[in-house]
Amino acid sequence: MASESAIDWGSLALDYQPNRYVHPVRIRDLELRNNLTLAPMAGFTNLAFRLIAKEVGGCGLVASEMVAALAPGARTNDKRFQFLTESVPDEKPIAMQIYGRDPGLCAATAQELEAQGADIIDLNCGCPVKKAKQAACGVALMKEPAQVGRIVAAIRAVTDKPVAVKMRLGFDAENRTMLEVAQAAIDNGADMLAVHARTGESKHGTAVDLSGLAEVKQLAGAMPVLANGSMDTAEAIRNAKDIAGADGYQIGRSACGDPWLFRNLIAELTGGEVHEPSLAERRALLERHYELIIRLFGEQRGTMIMRKYTFFYCQGLPGVRAFRAAFVKIKDRQDFDRVVGEFFGQLEDPTL
Ligand SMILES: Cc1cc2nc3c(=O)[nH]c(=O)nc-3n(C[C@H](O)[C@H](O)[C@H](O)COP(=O)(O)O)c2cc1C
Repeated sequence: MASESAIDWGSLALDYQPNRYVHPVRIRDLELRNNLTLAPMAGFTNLAFRLIAKEVGGCGLVASEMVAALAPGARTNDKRFQFLTESVPDEKPIAMQIYGRDPGLCAATAQELEAQGADIIDLNCGCPVKKAKQAACGVALMKEPAQVGRIVAAIRAVTDKPVAVKMRLGFDAENRTMLEVAQAAIDNGADMLAVHARTGESKHGTAVDLSGLAEVKQLAGAMPVLANGSMDTAEAIRNAKDIAGADGYQIGRSACGDPWLFRNLIAELTGGEVHEPSLAERRALLERHYELIIRLFGEQRGTMIMRKYTFFYCQGLPGVRAFRAAFVKIKDRQDFDRVVGEFFGQLEDPTL
């Protein structure tokens, strides 16, 4: 996919003075230019979304949607795999994530991801959905530190790329195994840990447990540990650093519709200028995102998928309810242009 931008984001060029909170991070032999990173989100962090997060937000690392571990050769002509792992130079560096539990299949998948251009191979130990628990994958791996160790060792044996583990504090409050899992990952060759500082049964809205994160960081020593879970304010980031010693931050839901968040947090934390996007910029970004999405999915499917992002982009603007009601009916580019044109037209019209 070509990645030229429809508008010039150069005026927002990311330049910052590194300090205690925002700085480059080294992971094995990979250097991230800053430590604010995009969290993996299935159904959201496709190539189009990642490019937006990178070119508008300037985040230090993007992440793919998770990819199921399968046997070598099992993916011949697998369009979904191609779609999940398609990557372009402009978004790099990129972490690609494996979802699975069989060390051999995870290793084979790591090789496939490396061939697709992954800069970091990440293992999912956090997905809490029923299907993952039934398959003993995702957050269920938090109950099996030794298995995590075996998977990490198998991946380590087949790649020189940095290996990361995205984990939680435990399967649930009764099973806080973060230290056992972190130790198994470290002992078997992991280079980075990303810790969603909640357990598997905690809801997204609940407070993160920075003391649990601090214990993991203490154990990890010099190894980079990324804090995850509501890291979407300067205060949350300062706390993750000051209380837990986090080396970087992973942002998920709040980046949807607000790619400026990354650069604005960097600005706020380093004394730079926070950029409040103008209406024209919001509109241009929405159109840019739509363009990228339909190149990826085709016009018909892409238009349906765009609906969920559009809702995020227009949050808080006057008249957004009527806009949403119209937007859920759009079917193609013509509809998109008309509905978006009408919405922004009335916002820009001073008589309304
Ligand atoms: C829609 C959605 C999909 C997600 N998919 C993944 C995934 O594929 N792999 C993963 O490790 N975490 C996944 N997560 C969890 C996020 O990476 C992150 O840990 C979580 O949203 C908390 O961070 P936040 O508060 O910044 O959103 C997903 C979260 C959401 C909301």
